Amino acid sequence: MVTVRILQLTDLHVFQDPEACLKGIPTRELLADVVRHICESGQTFEHVVVTGDHTHDEMPESYQAVRQILSPWLDRLWQVPGNHDDRAGLRSVFGDRVSGVGQDRITFSFSAGQWLCLGVDTHVPGAVPGKIEAAQIDWIRQQIQSINPARIALFMHHPPVDIGSLWMDRIGLSGKELLHELFNSERRIELVCCGHVHHEFWSQVGNAKIYTTPATGLQFSPTGSQPTFVAEPPGYRVIELTDDGFSTNVCRLPVTRFSPST
Ligand SMILES: [Fe+2]
Repeated sequence: MVTVRILQLTDLHVFQDPEACLKGIPTRELLADVVRHICESGQTFEHVVVTGDHTHDEMPESYQAVRQILSPWLDRLWQVPGNHDDRAGLRSVFGDRVSGVGQDRITFSFSAGQWLCLGVDTHVPGAVPGKIEAAQIDWIRQQIQSINPARIALFMHHPPVDIGSLWMDRIGLSGKELLHELFNSERRIELVCCGHVHHEFWSQVGNAKIYTTPATGLQFSPTGSQPTFVAEPPGYRVIELTDDGFSTNVCRLPVTRFSPST
């Protein structure tokens, strides 16, 4: 049986200034820690997906730094933008890995064994919440129709469900009911991997299991009505796709090197 291993990284929040911190967390240094940890662990992946917030400041130098740190996987890298991204800026640095031009939506589509993996762009320029529109649902349906896979995985920045955190749900995804209709009618969509919330969470709509993944840098508390940050090590998600289904788990680095400021 074919097993395809996918690495998901999310919410890198790298700054132009190599020393800059997000709430006391040196995001560039921790992203490098994550990549080093994975490479030294001996784990191998056929695909690496970054689900947005590559940078915090949307500066070209920040995207260049991300590209340099992710250099072990440039030949297998897939990306969607988050709210802390600029599509044109991301394209200017990852033009060999991202199709389209300027502010066109950044999507991807690749097959993995019997699975079809689709990247869905929820970015709204200048806004923190994300958005899904009917045209994006049409695109997903067209991809499914043309390839006719046995199973489908989606990757996106904003999760298509509320997560029970009041402040985070206020900056969630509008139009998510369109995705719920899709999940309820297209049972082959079995897996949805997201970022944005900087911690691990899961839910289900229709046949789709929806997972969020810890950030490579700053970790958020999963509860509370106001933003609260927690001292936990960086994390990433490992996904294994097989003919029979999938398995997935979050891995965290063994050490918490930095505590966030309040
Ligand atoms: Fe983020």
